[in-house]
Amino acid sequence: MKRWGSPTVFFFFFLVLLLGAFFHWVDHTIITSIKGHKKSPSIIELPLKRSLDGSMEQSRVSNYPVIFRPNNLSSTACPEYFRWIHEDLRIWKSTGISRAMVERAKDYAHFRLVILKGKIYVEKYKKSFHTRDVFTIWGILQLLRLYPGKVPDLELMFWCDDRPVILKKDYQGTNATSSPSIFQYCGREDALGIVFPDWTFWGWAETNVSPWKTLSKDLKEANKRTKWKDRVPYAYWRGNPNVAASRRQLMWCNVSDKYDWNARLYKQDWRTESEQGYEHSRLEDQCTHRYKIYIEGRGWSVSDKYILACDSMTLFVKPEYYDFFIRSMVPLQHYWPVSARNKCRDIKFAVEWGNNHTDKAQAIGKAGSKFIQENLKMEYVYDYMFHLLTNYANLLKFKPRIPEGAVEVYSETMARPHRGLWKKFMAETLVNFPSDTLPCTMPPPYESRTLEAFIESKETVTRQVERWEKENSKKN
Ligand SMILES: *[C@@H]1O[C@H](CO)[C@@H](O)[C@H](O)[C@H]1NC(C)=O
Ligand SMILES: *[C@@H]1O[C@H](CO)[C@@H](O)[C@H](O)[C@H]1NC(C)=O
Ligand SMILES: *[C@@H]1O[C@H](CO)[C@@H](O)[C@H](O)[C@H]1NC(C)=O
Ligand SMILES: *[C@@H]1O[C@H](CO)[C@@H](O)[C@H](O)[C@H]1NC(C)=O
Repeated sequence: MKRWGSPTVFFFFFLVLLLGAFFHWVDHTIITSIKGHKKSPSIIELPLKRSLDGSMEQSRVSNYPVIFRPNNLSSTACPEYFRWIHEDLRIWKSTGISRAMVERAKDYAHFRLVILKGKIYVEKYKKSFHTRDVFTIWGILQLLRLYPGKVPDLELMFWCDDRPVILKKDYQGTNATSSPSIFQYCGREDALGIVFPDWTFWGWAETNVSPWKTLSKDLKEANKRTKWKDRVPYAYWRGNPNVAASRRQLMWCNVSDKYDWNARLYKQDWRTESEQGYEHSRLEDQCTHRYKIYIEGRGWSVSDKYILACDSMTLFVKPEYYDFFIRSMVPLQHYWPVSARNKCRDIKFAVEWGNNHTDKAQAIGKAGSKFIQENLKMEYVYDYMFHLLTNYANLLKFKPRIPEGAVEVYSETMARPHRGLWKKFMAETLVNFPSDTLPCTMPPPYESRTLEAFIESKETVTRQVERWEKENSKKN
């Protein structure tokens, strides 16, 4: 749709802007074009600074660069975990992705997102939990601002829940050639799905969790407050135990009058927290123990990055799900493996081992944090999205188009209806300038033997830990 038709429209536009400058209260109002369209309202883009924080800056009216021209043409190698992009897309490598495969995912998806000539169109199918969908779309909008004109045309379906929704077993045999393609925040061995960075990288307003760029800095600062050796020598966990049976089981490991499993566990009641201004849930105030427990919730949990970034040794309860980076982390190097079955016993042992081998435990904690702080910098999160979407788009065997009922989204129009933290987080994560450098260089796919060896080595280490534990329990 052409948005600027005639000189009259232009004149009208400038008149509105002029009025806007005079009347402060015009801020935040929707100014719809006279050529408004029922399905996708055409909206005059207000200068960003104005619509986001109400300041009167007017210099950049929709003059955001449309072409990516970095000054610096050298490029660094992407972190190792980018190799999983090849794995997630592997099943379509020989067949490509047909329109039918994308459409087949529609029954599950919360929304369809189309990128066409650098613009984003969204067709919403159902409501997602909190504002996960909004912040995910926001993140993709920012990616397009970071690399203008570089993200190829594509159509994708996105599922916003905690667990994957499409099972592999339903697409075997005669159905094998028609696997639906869906994007989601985590994967599982027996499920299909393309893993995409979760919404919290741009903030989780409902729980007062800041955008990752801010929060990762806060965590880094917080780590300096208490040296590892001065931290409480027990394993800490705080969260909502009611979302999963495994978390309710974990509560049995809490210290009691009768027994000490070396665990200090706390229930998070989000309603009370929000009433009390999130005083007890600030993540950067939770790097106080030498050991921190990670356990999945309904599915994978966004908390893995926060827990791993604490400089404490993470006791990682064997997960069923994986997000986009965790598959490259290694037991005993970045975290301590805890079995799902014997959580209390394993936690007790890990804490005891760590307090006996403080240098080693501290090193594991440090390596986990370093992995997160270095490999999960926001630049890399964007690069991961960039390479994933580019590789995905390369597999598409059809020409993306704007579906009936889709609405074009802009950073301006997305931010406008929001208030409070939602608006603050968007202002904070708005990409103001295109990147100065190229995206990092994608590593090649794993050779299947290398990948098998890597997975096998992780299992060997985990079994090793179990053996230590058995030997230790025999001795005592
Ligand atoms: C160019 O980018 C590379 C890799 O990102 C970086 O190492 C180098 O310092 C940059 N050079 C300049 C002049 O900024
Ligand atoms: C193929 O897919 C359809 C629905 O998509 C399902 O009902 C059927 O059971 C599947 N067949 C096999 C062999 O998995
Ligand atoms: C675990 O025990 C501590 C210490 O007694 C207590 O403060 C805490 O509320 C308990 N946590 C749970 C989830 O019951
Ligand atoms: C820790 O050290 C104590 C005392 O030397 C020993 O009894 C215990 O078995 C050790 N535990 C572990 C897990 O290393």
